[in-house]
Amino acid sequence: MCDSCEKKKTFYITTPIYYPSGNMHIGHTYTTVAADTMTRFKRLTGYDAYFLTGTDEHGQKIEEKAKEAGVTPKEFVDAIVAETKKLWQLMNIEYDDFIRTTDKRHEVIVQKIFRKFYEQGDIYKSEYEGMYCTPCESFWTPSQLIDKDGEKVCPDCGRPCKPMKEEGYFFRMSKYQDWLIDYIETHPDFIQPAARANEMLNNFLRPGLQDLCVSRTSFSWGVPVDFDPKHVVYVWIDALSNYITALGYGTDHDELMQKYWPADVHLVGKEIVRFHTIYWPIMLHALGLPLPKQVFGHGWLLFGGDKMSKSKGMVQYAQPIVARYGADALRYYLMREMPFGADGNYTNEAFLTRMNADLANDLGNLVSRTVAMIEKYFGGVVPAWTGEPDPETDAPLMRHCAALPGLVEEQMNKLQFGQALIEIWKVIGECNKYIDVTQPWVLGKDEAQKARLGNVLLVLAECVRFVAVLIGPFMPSTPERIFAQLGIADPALKTWESLGCFGALPAGLKVCKGEALFPRIDVKKELEALAGTPATKPAPQPRPEKKQEKKPELPEGCIAFGDFEKVKMCVARVCACEKVEKSDKLLKFDLDIGTEHRTVLSGVAKFHDPESLVGKNLILLKNLAPRKIMGIESQGMLLSSVQANPDGTETLRLLTADPIMAPGAEIG
Ligand code: ME8
Repeated sequence: MCDSCEKKKTFYITTPIYYPSGNMHIGHTYTTVAADTMTRFKRLTGYDAYFLTGTDEHGQKIEEKAKEAGVTPKEFVDAIVAETKKLWQLMNIEYDDFIRTTDKRHEVIVQKIFRKFYEQGDIYKSEYEGMYCTPCESFWTPSQLIDKDGEKVCPDCGRPCKPMKEEGYFFRMSKYQDWLIDYIETHPDFIQPAARANEMLNNFLRPGLQDLCVSRTSFSWGVPVDFDPKHVVYVWIDALSNYITALGYGTDHDELMQKYWPADVHLVGKEIVRFHTIYWPIMLHALGLPLPKQVFGHGWLLFGGDKMSKSKGMVQYAQPIVARYGADALRYYLMREMPFGADGNYTNEAFLTRMNADLANDLGNLVSRTVAMIEKYFGGVVPAWTGEPDPETDAPLMRHCAALPGLVEEQMNKLQFGQALIEIWKVIGECNKYIDVTQPWVLGKDEAQKARLGNVLLVLAECVRFVAVLIGPFMPSTPERIFAQLGIADPALKTWESLGCFGALPAGLKVCKGEALFPRIDVKKELEALAGTPATKPAPQPRPEKKQEKKPELPEGCIAFGDFEKVKMCVARVCACEKVEKSDKLLKFDLDIGTEHRTVLSGVAKFHDPESLVGKNLILLKNLAPRKIMGIESQGMLLSSVQANPDGTETLRLLTADPIMAPGAEIG
């Protein structure tokens, strides 16, 4: 409570609103579990916490998916949203609101926001005007074109460009650039982890922001611009607004907005930090609203070393894991396995191994041994404390356990979920050692040691109670199972406040040995069993029957979409580039692809000066089998375009991607 007003402190947390273009996988589950865990922790520690999640339903991709399925976009997203809500229920996610960008309440306010921007001059109508390369479908500014025989040509393919105009609304991002640089520099907590702030400043803000085209006319599945309905609002303007439309911003009922804005933290994956720390702050500033206190860009859960991708079928879904091991085991793994902020691989083996080590052995054994010993030596009744703690054994453990809530809170305030769990597990480990050192089974043989044995078991039971309360936000179903075994019914013994001092557990409770919390599993057998379950839960495609009739024959020379999907391409930023010794054709590239660096050789030395390529965004075919060329392993292929010239020479250019795209961004 705040001292002055007797009101609880508030805490507003959000996840991204996910695209319902397919079912949510374990990556979406990761962010949502993190937000739920944080919400529960804040509630436990006395905050009035508000947790928002939802779905981002407009845009061309959804429009196309629905068309493929032969249903309307709304029918398409309705089915996926229903599955998503079921998944969150399965994962024990307790959100306060689930916003959909197709909700009327959202759409009308997006229109209002867009109009306000327009009326106050932040948005202006103009034309996309530039030189257009039709084969590359790219716009170029005059300075980007290259000179070829007195003609300005496309820097990618060397072919002539033509002037092109397209009507659109533009947001004056450039107007806010200096303000935003200053804001980020003077608010070090705003973008976390801090390295991401530097990335935003160095890669996007300091080089200069371009005005952003914030309307589209090429498709219609979006929020229409109400004063010019042939345009729909750009999806990111639409999507980012959700964080305030859900709170009733711009309506007569904006009590939630008054209460919870600014958000305490937007949790997002690292690939969308840019939208949340550049466009979103500028939108908010233009609306006269304060900025969220923090945007935390967490790392990716990788699958086979790659970011999971619905479209490429490289995915792991939560459902088959939860069906076998329960939501708490998966929630624990997700929060414990990798530091929040870093990438980490998901493998069934790592999950199962951690389940055995941390949950079955460390936690499960501590609870079952403690309860079993109280049953054996004290008839199942928690003994009373006698005398002083033993300075060698009891006192250090009691001190450590008493300090645990503070240690956990410190890590949670930094969103270091894994570290918070490590702190809890240190105490669990110390308890298990304490059992080995105090040897209750030896004390139990000597009637004169009865009081000492009672103290040992009471210390253990109290530690178990602390652990049960503190793991609640991470594993919401497990504490009650532990409390039931310890015979704790009193809600006052399950609170954060009850951890204020060590020793609140009263004597006389009747313990009751239950089933093992997390039975030990045979990893090898389980791996086989999991391999037999589909990791990929099929999306509920609302396809009418006729669509599934026999596949049409492919026109000659064409490949099926599925074949194309096998090709994995991404944006690769050139970190270094040099000529390969003894070769006049080859250049050797060091490429940053977001999650790793790749070495790639390319036969373009005659056409490109290596130094001029450093810092460029190229396009890498990344799942081409590696091969050795002149003793160097080349890990992929850079795409280029080549043409034969009338004079018998050739022009070749490496294809580039827009400099705004982050290394690793998927292409397809
Ligand atoms: O980007 N590892 O939606 P989206 C970790 N609609 N987190 C992952 C992940 C992975 N492999 N895959 C997905 C969008 N995520 C927009 C957001 S917000 C105003 C609009 C999580 O369906 C992570 O939080 O592509 C990531 O940022 C988000 O899902 C992307 O979801």
